[in-house]
Amino acid sequence: MRSIIDTLDLTVEELQGLVDTAMDIIANPSSYSDACRGKKLATLFFEPSTRTRMSFEAAMYELGGNVISMTDAATSSASKGESVADTAKIVSCYADIIAMRHPREGAALVAANNASIPVINAGDGGHCHPTQTLADLLTIYREKGRFDNLTIGLCGDLLYGRTVHSLIHAMSRYENVKFICISPEELKLPAYMEEGGDYENTTSLEEALPRLDILYMTRLQEERFADPAQYERLKNSYVLNPENMKLAKEDCSVLHPLPRVNEIAVAVDEDPRAAYFRQALNGKYMRMALILKLLGEAAKDKSKTVVTGEIEEGCTCNNPKCITKVEQELACKFRRVGEKKLCIYCDAEM
Ligand code: CP
Repeated sequence: MRSIIDTLDLTVEELQGLVDTAMDIIANPSSYSDACRGKKLATLFFEPSTRTRMSFEAAMYELGGNVISMTDAATSSASKGESVADTAKIVSCYADIIAMRHPREGAALVAANNASIPVINAGDGGHCHPTQTLADLLTIYREKGRFDNLTIGLCGDLLYGRTVHSLIHAMSRYENVKFICISPEELKLPAYMEEGGDYENTTSLEEALPRLDILYMTRLQEERFADPAQYERLKNSYVLNPENMKLAKEDCSVLHPLPRVNEIAVAVDEDPRAAYFRQALNGKYMRMALILKLLGEAAKDKSKTVVTGEIEEGCTCNNPKCITKVEQELACKFRRVGEKKLCIYCDAEM
């Protein structure tokens, strides 16, 4: 049984297959209107969302399927202390596929390990958000026509921004992709993300802008700051506006996973290079493609999801946001990557 926790769960060929399916859905929507007839998607959102949940639900309806939804942890039995593992087992009785967002890093993997249906990670804390990356990839493909030979500026909260981490995982597998990381010192990309890629760090958006094929703006993740005063100090670090857009290339595409706060002025929306609303629409097409793929595979393989590779036990994850901190019955497990031991749930170094 296949679940999608991280963008890296999909090969480059599979990503291209999803893009091709999405492009075919855009060209021939009526061919897909019955593709999931009789199937149910469960959307389990333990954290707020507009785009991800609603685009998943729209995707399933446009495929002819149905949706059951949990939109607020406070109205579910999670509020009575039910574990993610038990929730996944229960929802497997009612639905054919799950899309889950949870504030705990690694929660999606716990759900996948316990569900008997495919689980799609719709965001687990600051860890991964693979379907946002699918939306980003289709947008890059439709705006630029390629995935290679690109200089990508990543601007804002590169420490907590899970969309940035997932996008890097996906794009660093293509030829000649350079990342220019634009952030305050306090919100720099974690060092482990930079291994093996072509990265440059700067604090100046204006300095980077003229060199970019793509500018990926992000919101400061206020909800993930331990110190509110730090958020207040950093929240206006970068604002894209018509004035600094003059520094960008004529064909620079501006992406943003949204929601935005103030990091892109509303006046930029009129600029044809602003691709972020098209990006949100692309998310629906890629989620349609992913649902089709996983349900198709699940029909052939009903075995449970398993974590592959050499897994060891005997360490404690130090990440306070890791799912192992609240689901105490979970054994802390790790995999070795070179000299490092990484938690299998949240990828934090142990
Ligand atoms: N981009 C994104 O994940 O948006 P939502 O939080 O509204 O789902």
